[in-house]
Amino acid sequence: MKRDNFYITTPIYYPSGSPHMGHAYSSIVADVFARFKRNDNCKVFFLTGTDEHGLKIQKAAEKANLEPLIFCDKISKVFENLTKKLNLSNDDFIRTTEKRHHNSVNDLWNKLINSGDIYLSKYKGWYSVSDEAYYNDDEINEKNGKKFSTFSGSPVEWVEEESFFFKLSSWQDKLLKFYEENDKFILPLSRKNEVVNFVKKGLKDLSVSRTSFTWGIKVPNNQKHVIYVWLDALTNYLSALNYPDVSNSLFKDFWPASVHVIGKDILRFHAIYWPAFLLAAKIKPPNRVFGHGWILSGDEKMSKSRGNILNPIEIIDNYGIDELRYYLMKEVSHGSDGNISLKSLENCINSDLANNYGNLCQRIFSFIKNNCNNTVKKNHIVSEADKKLVNETETLTKDLRENMDNQNLNSYLKSVINISFLTNKYINDEEPWKLKKSDAQKMNNILHLSLVQIAKISILLNPIIPEATSKVLNALNLEKNERNISFVDGKEIFSDEIKIKELNILFKKIT
Ligand code: ME8
Ligand code: MG
Repeated sequence: MKRDNFYITTPIYYPSGSPHMGHAYSSIVADVFARFKRNDNCKVFFLTGTDEHGLKIQKAAEKANLEPLIFCDKISKVFENLTKKLNLSNDDFIRTTEKRHHNSVNDLWNKLINSGDIYLSKYKGWYSVSDEAYYNDDEINEKNGKKFSTFSGSPVEWVEEESFFFKLSSWQDKLLKFYEENDKFILPLSRKNEVVNFVKKGLKDLSVSRTSFTWGIKVPNNQKHVIYVWLDALTNYLSALNYPDVSNSLFKDFWPASVHVIGKDILRFHAIYWPAFLLAAKIKPPNRVFGHGWILSGDEKMSKSRGNILNPIEIIDNYGIDELRYYLMKEVSHGSDGNISLKSLENCINSDLANNYGNLCQRIFSFIKNNCNNTVKKNHIVSEADKKLVNETETLTKDLRENMDNQNLNSYLKSVINISFLTNKYINDEEPWKLKKSDAQKMNNILHLSLVQIAKISILLNPIIPEATSKVLNALNLEKNERNISFVDGKEIFSDEIKIKELNILFKKIT
């Protein structure tokens, strides 16, 4: 893969029920990185989709009285529609029931058979259908006579059946070495430590097929077995690049994946099983697994009985998609959990979007329209206040690429919104409205710098709030190819004269 190419994925979601805020969150996080990289002149491939096999889905289909595939068609469509509603810029949407994916899984399976990493035996142990995961005895607790996974709280059942096994135990040392050599394979680092400790405790061979149900991809040459849904699901990241055709341009351009964005609940599958399967099959593991935290609904108002404010669709319909995207990116910080509520959503919209960025754009655009015939022209006299603002902005933009490269969205956002705050302050202090008669040149300089600042902030916020920032960048007459991050390297955005178009209100204040 070329250095400037960037392949980013979301988890593929189980279409067992309606999408909720957690799904929306992962998808938006991935979309923000994808958009940022495109704006930073990278070639990007952004993948999302649905994970449609396994007992969990088979049971959900039975409950809905539908054939599994018909059931999946229906709910997968809901997830696909959500990508539009969330304004995701995904390049593909993969479903594990597609033929391209079956080919890919079959090939990976055969590679693991040929390398001697898969053998036939009998599985005896705990299984959680809800997590589609196997658990050890020491990972189980008991409540009212029922057994649960200590990790996820999901009920487990005892399973005994013939099964193919993947020799995970033999990959323990190689995995530890891999983590050591690729010290940012798992971010945030706290999560990496969890994984390393888990692997150090010793890995057991992993059951990778089931015989007690049929909804899945059949094991090649043994139709009694279906392939374990996680081996099946993880392979989606390869299928979308037309694997096993490794000489096709998608695979050559984009594998290994740059970042798999996932929730911390599925870290074990992505950070242990996945690189082990790939190493065994002699395929390069991905560069990064980013395990973000949980969105909590600790606020009682968001409990089920109070209704469904965790429903992303309703929030978007009531508040707007940019508003939701911005709020989630700001509120849930780098890899830790975040509590969300309508109250804090409204506060965030008012303080950051309406009063800060929105107000900055609105006041400058309408002033220039009303007083300058939509045109400002600067001369080359630079005031102390100008210099200060330019320097502060430079300082705040210095680390932004690095923030994004480390999935530190929260720091990124804080810096950018701070630039907007400082620009508003500059305008308040400089009072261009007082200079119209006395010093029109200075007034023009102030307005010119304000527009440059607005352009920079809008370019930087574009991956997070694409709708509003596009309106601003259009009104600034900036072409698509001029809207990129390269200004942080010192490239000028505008010439001395800037012409603007009318800008309508961006964010309504919530009262
Ligand atoms: O696990 N907060 O699918 P899934 C934040 N099919 N993120 C959340 C969340 C919350 N409260 N709830 C869910 C699966 N998520 C598998 C994945 S990948 C090869 C297969 C997000 O439908 C988070 O990204 O249960 C989590 O990892 C994912 O949804 C789980 O979605
Ligand atoms: Mg889940």
